[in-house]
Amino acid sequence: MMRIDIISLFPDMFAGPFGHSIIKRAREAGLLSVQVTNPRDFAFDKHHIVDDYPFGGGAGMVMKPDPVFLAVESVTAERESDKRRVILMCPGGQSFTQQKARELAGYEQLVFICGHYEGLDDRVRQHLADEAVSIGDYVLTGGELPAMVVVDAVARMLPGVLGASDGAEQDSFYSGLLEYPQYTRPRDFRGWSVPDVLISGDHAKIARWRRKQSLKNTLERRPDLLVDFPLNAEDAALLEEIKKERSGG
Ligand code: ADE
Repeated sequence: MMRIDIISLFPDMFAGPFGHSIIKRAREAGLLSVQVTNPRDFAFDKHHIVDDYPFGGGAGMVMKPDPVFLAVESVTAERESDKRRVILMCPGGQSFTQQKARELAGYEQLVFICGHYEGLDDRVRQHLADEAVSIGDYVLTGGELPAMVVVDAVARMLPGVLGASDGAEQDSFYSGLLEYPQYTRPRDFRGWSVPDVLISGDHAKIARWRRKQSLKNTLERRPDLLVDFPLNAEDAALLEEIKKERSGG
């Protein structure tokens, strides 16, 4: 079972995303355990203070290092360090990708530190976190939503979490291409009908059509992904077809 620990001043934020749908089922099935630990419980002064003024001056408050170190240490005592990863969520971290989700899914324990206020004492990044991760080039009010995003993406990579055996393998970015379009009933909806090939019953033809649509979607929407993509001979032929069709040929 993978163990996930979240270090956050706002534990209640996690009840929604982790209490529904696939993550909920994974937890109930014993594939995943998720605990949230509040650094405030490790601030032992009378008022449980977790932030303070920045050295050197400036606006805003900075999260103190000691409650965060103690909170992390309270959840990492049991496991060897090569089986766990301590991840600081911050906009200055490495970009989160499907590749990173796959890599993190290989650990036994993940600890996510959610920064808040205007900042977090940098000794947490330097001496406590193994790495810092960002979910995109924008700044959120805290690391909670980013941690939820990363946990969700990692959880669905764990064996058994997605019902169908081929679930994650079919995804965009798992293969390196965007997905082909999917349709369900009704066959005709407001005059828009499902592509005939999908009703043909010809599985080889359907597989070829889907591969071609994946390549076409990727070429049109995310051509950057094709730069490093290892095209096989059939892919190359399909791409030629797509390019000919696009130039009206
Ligand atoms: N904290 C605030 N913004 C963030 C981002 N984009 N990614 C990760 N953590 C963050």
